[in-house]
Amino acid sequence: MSRDKKLIIGNWKMNLNTHEASLYLHKLSQIVAVRRDVEVVLAPTLLAVQSLSLQIDRRQFKLAVQNLYWRDHGAYTGEVSATQLRGIVDYALIGHSERRHLFNESDKDTRNKVQAAIRNHIYPVLCIGETASERAAGETHDVLHDQLVGGLANVTSEDLESVIIAYEPVWAIGTGDNALPGDVAKAITAIRSQIKHLYGPAAAKSIRVLYGGSVKADSAADYLATEGVDGLLVGGASLDAHAFVEIIKKAHNDSIVVKK
Ligand code: PGA
Repeated sequence: MSRDKKLIIGNWKMNLNTHEASLYLHKLSQIVAVRRDVEVVLAPTLLAVQSLSLQIDRRQFKLAVQNLYWRDHGAYTGEVSATQLRGIVDYALIGHSERRHLFNESDKDTRNKVQAAIRNHIYPVLCIGETASERAAGETHDVLHDQLVGGLANVTSEDLESVIIAYEPVWAIGTGDNALPGDVAKAITAIRSQIKHLYGPAAAKSIRVLYGGSVKADSAADYLATEGVDGLLVGGASLDAHAFVEIIKKAHNDSIVVKK
């Protein structure tokens, strides 16, 4: 997918049960117009992914998982593989900071999961970002570098075309303490220059990079107008249909409505 199309992902985290998720999707589907310039992706609880996949109009919404396991099959109690999710979801969040910090996911885990997603035709959304203390120590760019190199090791130039990077400063997630657009621009420039170093200038130009961290309806437009930002990863505000629809509207840059 080209960078002309903005990507807006709603990460519902561990909220909404199957019934609530279905009602919420129904509500959203009544008000979100299908447009060529925006892709709207919903990341519900894993429990609801299968049933929502039967309910959605894939021209209007795509589905993402919030996590997956990298082995394809086997004795891995409690896990769900990319192979099992193939055909059900189009995207997978990989290495979200809550996975890294609450569930001790390492760069090696994210690397294996990125590979598993690609192998199974699921777009990996590799989430990277610094903590408050790393930021205070001036280590932001080093952290981004390490998480990128760690997560993308073994990804070929060809496979990189299906990878999306989400810059999510950990201190901005769920805190209301959102990053300044100027700082986001600097971090994304650092990300693209690292991609350039690893894969060359064309890849640095074409890779899609999202911002996430306390995005609200009133801050979405500023981030979307920020140099290098191709979309948003929205947590809390995606649970409020009104706020989420307002955020999606901010991503439209023309008035072509394909379907209402
Ligand atoms: P937030 O979450 O919008 O609630 O800060 C973002 C995320 O976790 O992806």
